[in-house]
Amino acid sequence: MSSAINIAIDGPSGVGKSTIADRVAESLHMVHLDTGAMYRCVAYYLVSHQIDLSDSQALDQALDSIHISFQGKQVFLNDVDVSKEIRTNEISMFTSKVATNPSVRKKMVTLQQEVAKDKGYILDGRDICTVVLPDAEVKIYMDASAKARAERRYKEYISQGIQADYETIYQDIVARDYQDSHREISPLVQAKDAIRIDTSNLTIDEVVKEVLELVRKA
Ligand code: DC
Repeated sequence: MSSAINIAIDGPSGVGKSTIADRVAESLHMVHLDTGAMYRCVAYYLVSHQIDLSDSQALDQALDSIHISFQGKQVFLNDVDVSKEIRTNEISMFTSKVATNPSVRKKMVTLQQEVAKDKGYILDGRDICTVVLPDAEVKIYMDASAKARAERRYKEYISQGIQADYETIYQDIVARDYQDSHREISPLVQAKDAIRIDTSNLTIDEVVKEVLELVRKA
């Protein structure tokens, strides 16, 4: 049954969307598409090729040259594994800026809709319920306090061997929340018909259970 549906999950940085989507996808034999990773790849490409976001011609050329693919949890940009490089704090901050650009968003949304058209996908991001898959069978808005999210991200970085400072992460999360929810195009908002899950005091297992219950009801 689950392969005939799509699940859309939105929410702020570090709320656990990706982890939950991975677990739910595994349990329901669906495919998880981490749309944040796609925006991160664009940001990483621009930085590594020294392309100015405001140079629209260079940006369009870059968007045509970018090929993003996934193998399990690994993210490939033009066939190079960039899984670690796209998760640094610096790239996170820049991605939030890159994601405000209309050409970037148009390209990413088109790619995401193309992938999900056959159903069986779980997409997580900021505009999935509102723009990318407004007709998804299950729509969820995941939320958590900035403090809970900063603590989680700090632990995630350390476990991946990435150097991190808690206070910087916290401040960056607050700044990114502001940027993601106040931008002109597709700002982060809870879709009217999305179900809100506050994960601040829930374990991963508890959130997964709640999502699976929503899928069952759908
Ligand atoms: O989920 P994440 O932290 O990996 O997302 C990285 C950035 O990309 C974040 O600042 C918001 C942006 N983003 C977006 O604008 N739309 C999406 N669908 C996914 C991510």
